[in-house]
Amino acid sequence: METIRGKRLSLLIKEEDIKKRVKELGREVERDFATSKELIVVGLLKGAFIFMADLVREIKLPLKIDFLWVSSYGQSMESSGNIKIVKDIDVDIEGREVLLVDDILDTGLTLKEIYEFLRIRNPSKLKTCVLLDKKERRKVDFNADYVGFEVPNLFLVGYGLDWGELGRNLPGVYAVED
Ligand code: PRP
Ligand code: MG
Repeated sequence: METIRGKRLSLLIKEEDIKKRVKELGREVERDFATSKELIVVGLLKGAFIFMADLVREIKLPLKIDFLWVSSYGQSMESSGNIKIVKDIDVDIEGREVLLVDDILDTGLTLKEIYEFLRIRNPSKLKTCVLLDKKERRKVDFNADYVGFEVPNLFLVGYGLDWGELGRNLPGVYAVED
């Protein structure tokens, strides 16, 4: 039984199921960006790093990767709704085809704001991909173009998601038990 800080974790999505779904997402992205000469995949740090690493290996197209380091939650379990750009991307995305990747879409505050932050730089195409979608928590009108799994409103860790920076390295997605 996995635990973090004495709290038990219950497995929600196992490693093999993530792997299978990530392959499918790769096929979807390939289909939609089939004519792309050079796709730019932008991941949101830190949460997206594992999903992004797996996803790009399933996209058999010429692509470049970059990361945008944003922070909204800090140590808290709730979104502060106050997104901070810790580090911007290095590439110029004007006229380029961009796929924005994150681990989870929760209130939607982060992705909606970052989508707009990139959109005003005039990419020719901008799509979003998240592994997890906690739909019932949405506070703003925003949905991702590609979603791995819809998940219930539980506090989740693993596969990039953390609880106070712990648990990102768990290969599956777990709910922290009360
Ligand atoms: C988490 C998660 C998403 C965001 C989703 O990031 O990785 O980026 O919150 O929440 P929202 O839809 O309510 O905005 P966090 O700010 O915790 O930082 P991290 O990626 O470094 O874990
Ligand atoms: Mg994040």
